[in-house]
Amino acid sequence: MRITVIGTGYLGATHAACMAELGYEVLGLDIVPEKIATLSQGRSPMYEPGLDELLQKHVVSGRLRFTTDWAEAGAFGEVHFVCTNTPQRKGEFACDMSYVEAAFDSLAPHLREGAVVVGKSTVPVGSAARLAERMASGAPADIADTIELAWNPEFLREGYAVQDTLHPDRLVVGTRSPRAEAVLREVYAPLLEAGVPMVVTDFATSELVKAAANSFLATKISFINAMAEVCEASGADVVQLAGALAYDERIGGKFLNSGLGFGGGCLPKDIRAFMARAGELGADQALTFLREVDSINMRRRSRMVELAREQLGGGFLGQRIAVLGAAFKPNSDDVRDSPALNVAAQIQLQGGQVTVYDPKAMDNARKLFPGLSFAPTAHEAATGAHVVLHLTEWQEFRDLDPAELGPLVAERRILDGRNVLDPHKWRSAGWTYRALGRPGE
Ligand code: UDX
Repeated sequence: MRITVIGTGYLGATHAACMAELGYEVLGLDIVPEKIATLSQGRSPMYEPGLDELLQKHVVSGRLRFTTDWAEAGAFGEVHFVCTNTPQRKGEFACDMSYVEAAFDSLAPHLREGAVVVGKSTVPVGSAARLAERMASGAPADIADTIELAWNPEFLREGYAVQDTLHPDRLVVGTRSPRAEAVLREVYAPLLEAGVPMVVTDFATSELVKAAANSFLATKISFINAMAEVCEASGADVVQLAGALAYDERIGGKFLNSGLGFGGGCLPKDIRAFMARAGELGADQALTFLREVDSINMRRRSRMVELAREQLGGGFLGQRIAVLGAAFKPNSDDVRDSPALNVAAQIQLQGGQVTVYDPKAMDNARKLFPGLSFAPTAHEAATGAHVVLHLTEWQEFRDLDPAELGPLVAERRILDGRNVLDPHKWRSAGWTYRALGRPGE
């Protein structure tokens, strides 16, 4: 089976490499020539553990190629996976469908008889039905009725993208076409044989599974962060609270880590796009709670700034602040809607001298916030600092030795925005350790 993957961002590059790993001939397409040049050398344009190795392996074996040519993609693929992104529109909650629409419009005239097109992008409910019509009218008239569409949302997490693609919890397929279902069963046969469940449903349900899953995860994070606010007000400890809740199997401990909240290219924009779509459908009341989920999440960032200000005696002027972490989460170089950078920028705006260090996301952070200062190591970022903010929970930061860092800083103060450092370890080395939702010393 010959597969194309349209759009080679986090999702598409991973999907292309993983499809090659499953044994298919794969052609990846992107409209950005620089990305295609990097991928063609078997290198990933972004940091994603395990992806470089897979790309290298399959580019060398010749099973995986990349192009910018739509005609080549149309001629090559029996199955086309559309993996273009759907960012938030500027100044609005709704998502920007223009990349997905452009992909369908560019591909349609080149499709071959019997091609199956599979959307993987996260789209507002109702999009697949609309895109099916758009694709049929853009395809060559004599074969338009032989082309099928399926929607197959992707649930991968950055940092675990390869593992999540090759070993997903489930596959979801929305389609009106038994043939498209059969083709996808064939494509995913190695996963199905390994016991991965596949839910086959209609277009709308498949689109909603993704929106609902992300909303649930965001709600769970904001729930525990709301509890952190109550913990702070009452002197309780949110880490112990979450630990006790997690013993209840109905609740579970995953996605119950309180701290600076969620960011990245998915959860924040997906819950907003979901609210916008529900509004268009006249169901906005059903999702008003997501507005609260979003507000609780955004409040974490200002609360972190406030805690830093409190620790510095009420103001940032003349104070040096070390920020550990720039990526929106560890094991990624993605800085889209990064809570860490948001906090760093807020403090800088309020007059603090901020120095940021991140193990992998420095280049992306520099591009996004050229006004911030950066240091090449955690130790250098911390040198002379009046407070150290731990904002992205890289293993490297958990491994820091507070006794070694102590002589470098101006004041031994650490604020843990992710609730993963060991308070005892830091306090016994003479540091003031503070975290959101936990009592002070
Ligand atoms: C998410 C979904 O998990 C994935 O299924 C979907 O396909 C895309 O969006 P991703 O954004 O890569 O994936 O990261 P994820 O690991 O889900 O973390 C999202 C954010 O939540 C991060 O900023 C993370 O720091 C934060 N988070 C996560 C918490 O604050 N607490 C937690 O307990 C878990």
